[in-house]
Amino acid sequence: MNLGTSLLFSRTHIVDQHTVAPYVHSFSHQRTSSNLVRRISFPDVVPRRDLALRFVPGDFLELFTSLDQYDAVVTLFFIDTAANLLAYLDTIWAALKPGGVWVNEGPLLYYGNPGMELPLEDVVRAAELVGFVIEKRDELREVRYTADELGMYTFAYDCAFWVARKPSEAGREPGAERGPARGL
Ligand SMILES: C[S@@+](CC[C@H](N)C(=O)[O-])C[C@H]1O[C@@H](n2cnc3c(N)ncnc32)[C@H](O)[C@@H]1O
Repeated sequence: MNLGTSLLFSRTHIVDQHTVAPYVHSFSHQRTSSNLVRRISFPDVVPRRDLALRFVPGDFLELFTSLDQYDAVVTLFFIDTAANLLAYLDTIWAALKPGGVWVNEGPLLYYGNPGMELPLEDVVRAAELVGFVIEKRDELREVRYTADELGMYTFAYDCAFWVARKPSEAGREPGAERGPARGL
């Protein structure tokens, strides 16, 4: 994933510039051998050059330490990678400028070595305790992330989606506005 992202940001100029055979090692659930070896071209959208997007590898908690820097943070299929989800929330809060917005979409597929595996409602509550104001919530049904649409096996996520704002009058410390903790 990191290589793919890096390729998109630094060496991609036109739609369908690159070609891969992503299913060639997946022998299960194939209908035909031509499906197995078929090639897929990407990307369907070219990153905007005027935004000077960069791919920066590393640990999210260590990379985004500068305070009040970003107008927006977007996390896509990401927050469930946290060993400590509360540390992710604090990092997003600190990185945003007051008035900045956090957009999240994804499932809660905890794996690796998570220190906490909160259900969705507790993640949202924790975000509110940090100080975020949830402006919009939705659920995206049947998101077939990385699925082989021609295969015999289907799997889909029902993803949480929200838009949360760091209030414009917010202080730097997460949780400063929340008052006495009401608990998760
Ligand atoms: C499920 S993938 C999602 C990737 C991409 N956002 C997408 O939607 O396709 C999770 C990504 O989080 C990255 N990741 C996991 N833990 C991380 C951490 N502590 N800091 C930065 N990135 C991390 C992984 O390398 C992987 O690229």
